[in-house]
Amino acid sequence: MPISKQYNYSLLGHNTMGIDVKAQQFITYDTVDELKEVLREIAGRPILHIGRGSNLLFTRDFEGVVLHSSIKFTQIVMRNQREVVVRVGAGVVWDDFCAQMAQNNFYGSENLSHIPGEVGAAAVQNIGAYGVEVESIIQEVETIEIATGSRRVFHVSQCEYHYRESVFKNKLRGQYVVTAVVFKLSVTPVVHLDYGQLQDLKALPHTPSAQDIRDAVIAIRRSKLPEPDQLGSAGSFFKNPVVPIELFNDIAATHHEVPHYAIDEKQIKIPAAWLIEQCGWKGKCHGGAAVYEKQPLIIVNKNHATSSDIMELASLIQQSVYDTFKINIYPEVNYI
Ligand code: EPU
Repeated sequence: MPISKQYNYSLLGHNTMGIDVKAQQFITYDTVDELKEVLREIAGRPILHIGRGSNLLFTRDFEGVVLHSSIKFTQIVMRNQREVVVRVGAGVVWDDFCAQMAQNNFYGSENLSHIPGEVGAAAVQNIGAYGVEVESIIQEVETIEIATGSRRVFHVSQCEYHYRESVFKNKLRGQYVVTAVVFKLSVTPVVHLDYGQLQDLKALPHTPSAQDIRDAVIAIRRSKLPEPDQLGSAGSFFKNPVVPIELFNDIAATHHEVPHYAIDEKQIKIPAAWLIEQCGWKGKCHGGAAVYEKQPLIIVNKNHATSSDIMELASLIQQSVYDTFKINIYPEVNYI
């Protein structure tokens, strides 16, 4: 399919939260050359590049050009007895990639199965789940610079990856379009089974296959998280906060059961889901938005929510967590 251009285009089908806003123009492209052509044509106009829209909240119509990649290929570029290097187009659906890797019994992406989104956005967002962050399997990120149309390949060490952060979300925000990602996976078993329910797999008499782990991850996700095609959401709405140990000790003095993970000697991560639940938000509604009853870190579009419903609910939650625990929690979702 060649370059497709639409005007005054509803983005309803392009954000998992299900917000009905319009883009002045919406363009999809299939190849890097088409992307360069499009960038020359729209030079100077505001640009927003989206994947599946699974991690953003549209707050208003977008007065500019929304771009979407349909660059789809999966190419094995190297394979030896230990490792395989796979180059994948940015427009490939993330879980299609995970499914294909698990089928081949390549280890690395299976814990990240079933995360909504596309490969390019996964590298921007540094998606993570069940003890694995995507940075651990990325080797390179191929991009085009928006201002010049020139190609730039970022080695993983240049991507400034942290928990749900990358250089593409921060210092270089809006400056590069990801066109492909190069992953390094393992041909021999390398498994991460320390997360709660995944530990059951440790009892198997054999090392679980990548497909075993993928199946278990999908079952856990289905039991806890809303399916975007059934109930709108953008996954976890907030990041898990990291707090100084003194503040954690104050909380633990009155809440002995507070779940936590040590980051280092001075800092502790506390699940935002727990903080939000303690503040009584589980299942609460605000307009058409609601706090998901099975996982309070998720705000769902229960009944034709507007972006204001969602933003107001998010602010109320943030304020109440702060008032109760003196902890600031910040959105993981990008407000546009
Ligand atoms: N918890 C509660 N009440 C609940 C649910 C959870 O108190 O109703 C507490 C429990 O103590 C639980 C802890 O929160 O042990 C952690 O919950 P969970 O394992 O569901 O993970 P999370 O920290 O809430 C993060 C990611 C998810 C990812 C899971 C699993 C973030 C912001 N979110 O959630 O990612 O799937 O871990 O690894 O880091 C996403 O980013 O969109 C996303 C879904």
